[in-house]
Amino acid sequence: MEEKLVKVKELLKKYNQEHLLTYFDDLTPENKELLLNQILDIDFELMANLYKNTKAEIEIDTNTIEPIPYVDKSKLPQADLDLYYSKGLEAIKAGKLAVVTMAGGQGTRLGHNGPKGTFDLGLDSHKSIFEILCDTLILAKNTYGVTIPWYLMTSNENNSATINFFEEHNFFGYPKDAVHFFKQGELPMLSTDGKILLNENGTVKLAANGHGGIFESMFKNNVLEDMKSNGIEWIFIGGVDNVLVKMVDPILMGLCMTKNTLAGGKSLVKAGPKEKVGVFCKRNGKPSVVEYTEITEEMANARDENGELVFGESHILCNLFNIKALEAISKNSLPYHSAFKKASYMDENKQIITSNQPNAYKFEAFIFDAFSTLDDMVILRVKREEEFAPVKNATGTDSPETARELYLNFHKKL
Ligand code: UTP
Repeated sequence: MEEKLVKVKELLKKYNQEHLLTYFDDLTPENKELLLNQILDIDFELMANLYKNTKAEIEIDTNTIEPIPYVDKSKLPQADLDLYYSKGLEAIKAGKLAVVTMAGGQGTRLGHNGPKGTFDLGLDSHKSIFEILCDTLILAKNTYGVTIPWYLMTSNENNSATINFFEEHNFFGYPKDAVHFFKQGELPMLSTDGKILLNENGTVKLAANGHGGIFESMFKNNVLEDMKSNGIEWIFIGGVDNVLVKMVDPILMGLCMTKNTLAGGKSLVKAGPKEKVGVFCKRNGKPSVVEYTEITEEMANARDENGELVFGESHILCNLFNIKALEAISKNSLPYHSAFKKASYMDENKQIITSNQPNAYKFEAFIFDAFSTLDDMVILRVKREEEFAPVKNATGTDSPETARELYLNFHKKL
């Protein structure tokens, strides 16, 4: 440990983060070891750059951005639908599809005590979000006769609570050996003056590195290898918080296969120029997403000859990738974006600081930054009422109440 400590002290001095050892002498032996390892793991150059970027203005070069072509599912001729469906189904039945649910988020807006997937949506059945998602896999198993492997990305913070919930609920009746958990990566949080924050127990305050962390963590945790060795060719990746997510969709899969593209994403018509969603586009000729924080007034309001928004294909975190695409993506690192968030931490005077206002920087990679690795991507426009019922906020829009209504309306029609 002495040797490590010397190395750590040098590093901290170099990067002006010496406060991280303020409580070292008071820590338990385990936490001493943990803290030293955490510090040795930190990419201080990266953290310094990320801090610098928090001060930079985000500028968008509108000249590099153009609308992306899409396929409107509701306008497809029946013959095309049949073709895509049968191609996709054949591959699904052959065991070539796996699904991944990104469940590493903190769900701060919902404010539920526990992983978001454990939230009871308030149906008569009192099913949790995880069970609602699992229902779609059970349906696929019963209809297509295939057990689709289900991978869940958790975070350090919610991994054991997630696994315990699955165990307690007997994996909702899905074969336990078809369900796999892997953890996403983390990055330290920074104070407004660029200092790495400490937890109440004196160790480094880390936070999940965003849904874009999925590629790196699939690679590091050998998830891609595992899939490959099991003959998986297509991987659907979706968020945990859409209770109408169609994780098994032969049409999207058949469409990608027919068009010979390595990835496909579902889009919805943006509700209006001001809706807070990212939209698919092409940037420098490659598939991309323009975030709502980034889009200019002019782009947000632009309409085509049919009166539709030119940048109107909302990205809803429902994407399908060929394994070759994931292999290519996981070789590149994605940029991190900063988010100013509320955080509790211990300051240099051993005071626990909590705040009602954002007070610290968290850094996240976004899944859609990976799209630019791909030459092309099929965008399939689907209907909001059929595929999108997000649970984001505790009340109001995109809340359990709105999601429950959408879920019930959809299932009434079946
Ligand atoms: P959100 O961007 O809505 O974030 O995640 P969140 O953490 O769930 O909620 P808030 O912003 O704190 O209220 C969209 C999807 O991406 C996953 C979430 O679990 C959700 O399925 N996600 C997000 C991760 O898996 N890891 C992350 O680091 C962030």
